[in-house]
Amino acid sequence: MSSGSFVEVPKDLLNEIERLEELFTVDTAKLKQITDHFVNELEKGLSKEGGSIPMNPTWVMSFPTGYETGTFLALDMGGTNLRVCQITLTEQKSEFDIIQSKYRMPEELKTGVAEDLWEYIAECLLQFIQTHHGDVTKLDKIPLGFTFSYPATQNYIDEGILQRWTKGFDIDGVEGQNVVPMFEKALEERGVPIKLTALINDTTGTLIASAYTDTKMKIGCIFGTGCNAAYMEDCGSIPKLAHLNLPPDTPMAINCEWGAFDNEQKVLPRTPYDVAIDNDSPRPGQQAFEKMIAGLYLGEIFRLIMVDLHDNHEVNIFAGQDIGKLRRPYSLDSSFLSAIEDDPFENLSETRELFQNQLGIDPNRSELELIRRAAELIGTRAARLSACGVAAISKKKGYKECHVGADGSVFNKYPHFKKRGAAALREILDWPAKANASDDDPIEILAAEDGSGVGAALIAALTLERVKKGNMHGILHPENFKDTV
Ligand code: BGC
Repeated sequence: MSSGSFVEVPKDLLNEIERLEELFTVDTAKLKQITDHFVNELEKGLSKEGGSIPMNPTWVMSFPTGYETGTFLALDMGGTNLRVCQITLTEQKSEFDIIQSKYRMPEELKTGVAEDLWEYIAECLLQFIQTHHGDVTKLDKIPLGFTFSYPATQNYIDEGILQRWTKGFDIDGVEGQNVVPMFEKALEERGVPIKLTALINDTTGTLIASAYTDTKMKIGCIFGTGCNAAYMEDCGSIPKLAHLNLPPDTPMAINCEWGAFDNEQKVLPRTPYDVAIDNDSPRPGQQAFEKMIAGLYLGEIFRLIMVDLHDNHEVNIFAGQDIGKLRRPYSLDSSFLSAIEDDPFENLSETRELFQNQLGIDPNRSELELIRRAAELIGTRAARLSACGVAAISKKKGYKECHVGADGSVFNKYPHFKKRGAAALREILDWPAKANASDDDPIEILAAEDGSGVGAALIAALTLERVKKGNMHGILHPENFKDTV
């Protein structure tokens, strides 16, 4: 939208737009400052003392070659859905077959009791295996890669001690515990023939799945309900693992858990709306970076702005209208903002319909301009801040050229997210202007392969393979690997 569109907007509303622009715009200098601080924080997370970014070693100790083979189950417990897949890595280089089923993750499970969660998951797995393999009593145990996309300490690849719930989950009795025995107990009770080979994060899965088909892939990212990244470190650069005396040049995938970046509020330009989101979340003070970027929060930031401009500012948008629906916390998800940004019409008629249909509000023309600008500002800030994380890992590792595999609803569906992120990366890393518009950027963020399906299967395969070769580092239950190796 050109700034010319604002000609019709009354002065007081224009002032509000300018106030929002000031609050939400992150200029190049700030992006660079955030990135530099980010590099230090990545280092700190790897140190013995630790920092606010967890930098969790994952015991994924190599990239795939493309020649991995075998049949594996994969379970993805993400923020929104539960997915079960069976993946066959075929003899053909970098090829695979996949069958999968999706199950809705019932909202009440996210804040319910732990047993119900594990029971639900075990039931979904049982259903899947019965459908595709028949009588479970006649089956040998099938190896499973479990994508558990929350911060977890892994002293072993087949262990995951939940550091804290994120993405709105809040289930008592799980934080600080190893989730694997809880999960296995529910499987055993139902006779589900599965042995857990690897617990993985979605970012690590994304990294490995993407590297399976593209050897330039060095970083895996998720920009979805939550946000995070993983990359391959050398054990020699992980002081907190020094006591294990691993060969310094051995690779180790690190699940950064960068959603926790700047929890101590040193550098991120938080607005009053970000502060409100944090205060009202189940875990105030946690996931500061994620709360400005991830899909779970984008619609909520927007909603808070709208309510604030109705209640507390002289402009009093939507004056005289019932904004009851708009007052419901988390009632707008990021697809609502996507729809606003996608409205192709100069008069923003689709946005108007969206407000009428979903919220029972009829915005006037100037309010529509403000709505559109607010969505742009929130979406642009998210993309630009995301680029700081990618730039920080690249700087830390000295990557001048590489591919970054990204997945998640915001990356895949939010309008202009990729373009805005790429522009910010260019600013941060001082790349010269492109000679041709079609030239590749030195560091490119590309759509990833399926991390929680194929990635999980690959990690299970890589783990079995290294155990076979006698590398038993980070394996808690070698007996689970025996008959398969
Ligand atoms: C979790 C990460 C995950 C990310 C993306 C965050 O909330 O802490 O483990 O990778 O969401 O799903």
